[in-house]
Amino acid sequence: MFDNQVVAVTGASGGIGRAIGAMFAQNGGKVALSDLSPPVEAAAGINAKAYACDVSSELSVKAFIEQVEGDLGPIDVFISNAGVGAGNGPHVAGGSNESWETSWQVNVMGSVYAARALMPGWLERGSGRFVVTASAAGLLNQVGSASYSATKHAAVSFAESIAIEHGDQGIKSHCICPQYVRTNMTAGVDFSGQREKLLEPEDVAETLRQAIRDEKFLVLPHPVAGEYYAYRAANPDGWLDGMRKMLAKLKETKSYIFKDS
Ligand SMILES: NC(=O)c1ccc[n+]([C@@H]2O[C@H](COP(=O)([O-])OP(=O)(O)OC[C@H]3O[C@@H](n4cnc5c(N)ncnc54)[C@H](O)[C@@H]3O)[C@@H](O)[C@H]2O)c1
Repeated sequence: MFDNQVVAVTGASGGIGRAIGAMFAQNGGKVALSDLSPPVEAAAGINAKAYACDVSSELSVKAFIEQVEGDLGPIDVFISNAGVGAGNGPHVAGGSNESWETSWQVNVMGSVYAARALMPGWLERGSGRFVVTASAAGLLNQVGSASYSATKHAAVSFAESIAIEHGDQGIKSHCICPQYVRTNMTAGVDFSGQREKLLEPEDVAETLRQAIRDEKFLVLPHPVAGEYYAYRAANPDGWLDGMRKMLAKLKETKSYIFKDS
């Protein structure tokens, strides 16, 4: 399906990024995986190349893209997947400025830096595919983390802007919005009280494959997230009420996803 397409993935040493890389490799892609340190083990298993890339640094993102293009050829598909989260602290604005800034840099600017480096070549060629791993928190909210919620909303918005601004110039954009997935990010969290299923990273990768096949912007590994998204738009007060009930439950079980920082 992706024969000889050059695919670059960030935040890919494990979890969703690694599974997405493997999915592209299984479907014929030439895959470049990156993370803060080169994800050598993840890359070896799928005959991919491993690179270091800190997505919060524009220089690092630019260098990653240049290295991949030098080694494998022009990038066809870019997966902006690296992500971080932090808890609120004592109240909704209790997280440090540094913590908010890190979330902004990694969850939003990482995509902006990559798009800035890729777009001139893509516009010249009239093709390119940009995939953002946002979150259902970017359509709804992450209870206990205002910074994750705000930055993932921004991540969804940036993916939408690519689709709007450049969709008629041959550039495709997709936004992956899962609820909970079994990765390092969710390790140690008690999901027994959750209504929704904890998916495997491979499920997310397969949903992305299908969304690309069907040219769908929004990638919803948990389809119910789309129903909540519609409910939020139709009935904002009812939705906020439901979220407060969820928060009350989380306070009882203390099963927040993110630690304070
Ligand atoms: N696991 C979930 O339930 C879930 C749900 C929705 C969305 N997501 C999103 O999926 C993406 C992948 O997360 P995951 O669940 O696979 O967890 P993960 O912790 O395995 O992957 C996140 C990766 O991002 C990397 N990273 C962090 N800061 C970086 C930086 N500055 N530069 C480059 N890489 C950096 C980490 O090293 C890590 O490998 C994230 O964007 C996350 O927000 C996860």
